[in-house]
Amino acid sequence: MNGNKQSSFILKGDVIYSISANEMRTVPSGYVVCVKGKSRGVFEKLPQKYERLPLHDHSGKLIIPGLVDLHIHAPQYAFRGTGMDLELMEWLQQQTFPEESKYADLEYARKAYQIFADSMKKSATTHACIFATRHSQATEVLMDLMEQSGIVSYVGKVNMDREAPDPLRESSADASAADTRQWLAHVNGKYKRTMPILTPRFIPCCTPELLEQLHEIQTIYDLPVQSHLSENPNEVDFVRQLCPKSAFYGDAYDAFGLFGVNHQSGKPVKTIMAHCVYSTEEEIRRMKDNRVFVAHCPASNANLASGIAPIRKYLSLGIPTGLGSDVAGGHTESIFRAICDAVQVSKLYWRLIDQNQSPLTFCEAFFLATKGGGSFFGRAGSFEPDYDFSAVVLDDSLIPHPMKLSLPQRLERAAYGSLDLYGICAKYVSGDLIYEK
Ligand code: GUN
Ligand code: FE
Repeated sequence: MNGNKQSSFILKGDVIYSISANEMRTVPSGYVVCVKGKSRGVFEKLPQKYERLPLHDHSGKLIIPGLVDLHIHAPQYAFRGTGMDLELMEWLQQQTFPEESKYADLEYARKAYQIFADSMKKSATTHACIFATRHSQATEVLMDLMEQSGIVSYVGKVNMDREAPDPLRESSADASAADTRQWLAHVNGKYKRTMPILTPRFIPCCTPELLEQLHEIQTIYDLPVQSHLSENPNEVDFVRQLCPKSAFYGDAYDAFGLFGVNHQSGKPVKTIMAHCVYSTEEEIRRMKDNRVFVAHCPASNANLASGIAPIRKYLSLGIPTGLGSDVAGGHTESIFRAICDAVQVSKLYWRLIDQNQSPLTFCEAFFLATKGGGSFFGRAGSFEPDYDFSAVVLDDSLIPHPMKLSLPQRLERAAYGSLDLYGICAKYVSGDLIYEK
């Protein structure tokens, strides 16, 4: 990274970004100003005080904030787009666990994670929450590579001490916790852009003893948490059998202070739960009270025949929500694709399930992919002043058309065409140009 020397500059182009779920601001031939890695805002005319900053001229191109992926599995990138004829629990046993077992081999991990990191670098994603595997050394390899990529990420060594084949299943809660502590001792504070996050895989794979140990580790390190919640009917039934005393699925995390609040210290625990397709009213209320983030992963929920999450409900209640690719339940890292999938499945939800839950608009889905998910990282996902300066420049002339289009129309068409997979000209993260074509 270039530090502060390079990180004050101006981008010129057709700028579009979210102010709120229902408002996008568009500035044709606008100026986005970056000073020391932070946005100073977007201007129709460049203020005199910035005139001496270097100008990167992207005239005619779309400039948007970097996209946020709140849920992706790095080791599953290897088998993306295969094995889609299974439901979650069978898919984990037959497809996912055998592949994740390979990450005990550091050479394999290095090779596979390099492919993942390169793809992420070239994607429109500038901020990501990433699951590794249960292997702490391979997780460090992934963190080194993510740091080199320039993307801002949370990366978690996965914890799983039951319901998985040996040797992917950790031998005991103590062994899993000891490995986690050692991993944290190695990586905590090691990087500028790569941060650890506690990652109990999901309730079926974690004994109460393990969750208790993770709670202790969370208290010491004040770490955020990511996991899965109420994704698939068979999974939800299984959790009910495993945890008869829990009032609902999320209550099984909350009992150990791993659901938004550390009940011992009273402190918030920044938490993301992926899916939330089958969350009950009680669970939804607890998510709201505890400020738990929802990572909506529509492609994965379709591929694994899980269902459709009631995102309109979460937005109406003010539950913090963003989008996740959930590779390899999801088949692509394209967050543009996730935006369109979110809109499409919300239309099916409205038509087929609940006519009171209106479909998401494109504007709302773009918000989820930027400022909505970005709030997990603090001030990220917008060009408003003091936001982390992360931007993607897109050449939408690759999607030719004879008529004049407005900026929102150009963005929508770029998203439906998954332009983020082939049309990125430049990508900036925290004020650094990390990729250019
Ligand atoms: N639940 C537990 N593990 C996983 C996983 O790897 N992917 C998805 N989609 N759900 C899970
Ligand atoms: Fe997942």
